[in-house]
Amino acid sequence: MDVGVIGAGYVGLVTAVGLASLGHRVSVGERDPERLEQLQSGRSPIFEDGLESLLVEHSATGALSFYGDNNDVLKRAGIVVIALPTPQGTDGQADTTFITSALEAMAPHMEPGTVVVLKSTVPIGTNARMTALIGDHASGVTVVSNPEFLREGRAIHDFLHPDRIVIGGSHTDSVELVAKMYADIDAPIVVTSPEAAELIKYASNAYLATRVSFANEIANLGDAMGLDVHDVLEAVGLDSRIGSHFLRPGPGYGGSCFPKDTAALVSIADNAGYDLTLVKAAMEVNARQPDRVISKLNEHLGDLADKKIAVWGIAFKADTDDVRESPAVRVISQLMTLGADVTAFDPHASGTGLDIEPEIAETALGAATNADALVIATEWADFADADLEMVRVAMAGNVIVDARNMLDPKVARSTGFHYVGMGR
Ligand code: UDX
Repeated sequence: MDVGVIGAGYVGLVTAVGLASLGHRVSVGERDPERLEQLQSGRSPIFEDGLESLLVEHSATGALSFYGDNNDVLKRAGIVVIALPTPQGTDGQADTTFITSALEAMAPHMEPGTVVVLKSTVPIGTNARMTALIGDHASGVTVVSNPEFLREGRAIHDFLHPDRIVIGGSHTDSVELVAKMYADIDAPIVVTSPEAAELIKYASNAYLATRVSFANEIANLGDAMGLDVHDVLEAVGLDSRIGSHFLRPGPGYGGSCFPKDTAALVSIADNAGYDLTLVKAAMEVNARQPDRVISKLNEHLGDLADKKIAVWGIAFKADTDDVRESPAVRVISQLMTLGADVTAFDPHASGTGLDIEPEIAETALGAATNADALVIATEWADFADADLEMVRVAMAGNVIVDARNMLDPKVARSTGFHYVGMGR
């Protein structure tokens, strides 16, 4: 099939490459000239496992091509997937300005029969609004909602092996066409209304965020009672009704989705006159979680002013260089506000994005050198394999706050560390 994708950001690029891998001919519209040039020369602007090699492979066969003008995409495709950013607006809800202006510009050029697929995370009712907007300029164009559930770091895998595909639309033919686009993927397809499809995305992310906050609450309770909750959460997760995913305690959830989508769902509920107590509580727990990392340092070092603190990890989670809403960055920022001397290291994120950057070390050991305490803030697998003997020798102090429960407490303690985990 000839498919268009508007926006070569994270979701758009992964979707385009994924669709090309399914055998479709994909044209991508990207208006940023620098990014466009990068893509046309086969370089991925995003750090994502497997993305660049597929980009090169499918560009070489002509299955994937990039254009600066969205109308060039329209000329080539009967299905156009919209994957534009929807940042958090002032009212807490996702701001659809990028989508609205792109569709306003494209609609007069749309042929009857064109199917517009909304992949971006959008407020409930956006499909209906976009249908009306396009209807002012073109006839016979339908809009189908098809939210994405891609995890950064595993996005290509998630695209090709999703747990489910959600298609929300009112026109059977258009829904069937979108289902056909995914025909080679082995996953259940949920066909539903556009509004339900829009809500499924928010409800899924809010539930996962709530699970993380729940795990953090149990860990915080463990800390208050002097209990190690590692076995507790593992056993809880072994219940097949519960499952073990998203029960790892840590410094809180971050990234481009959970913080934004929980806030948006609360705002959606407020507008509908419903108080979404549970999700609000999950957000509150999350907002406090970085403070707990600071308190653990305070307990062992007292006042943190002029203390030298090493932070391993800047990205919001492992396997990505994304620092958006990163709990690691929140910890670093608080430490700097308290006057601590912070040196951070991350295998892929090159900086925090803060107005004043901490010192950034080239290696994990470099960051730890002469530090009074070490905080493990992102769950990069390499941190679990660190040579603790060498780290101990390099550091001035002996405190480790393992905010991701990466290390074996027994091993860390036997190496001479004062080890503190989350609920351990
Ligand atoms: C998420 C959703 O999983 C995905 O379906 C959606 O499309 C976008 O948002 P992503 O933001 O890439 O994906 O990250 P995810 O792997 O879900 O983790 C979110 C945050 O929760 C990270 O900060 C992570 O470190 C944290 N987390 C996750 C925990 O603290 N503990 C856990 O057990 C799991």
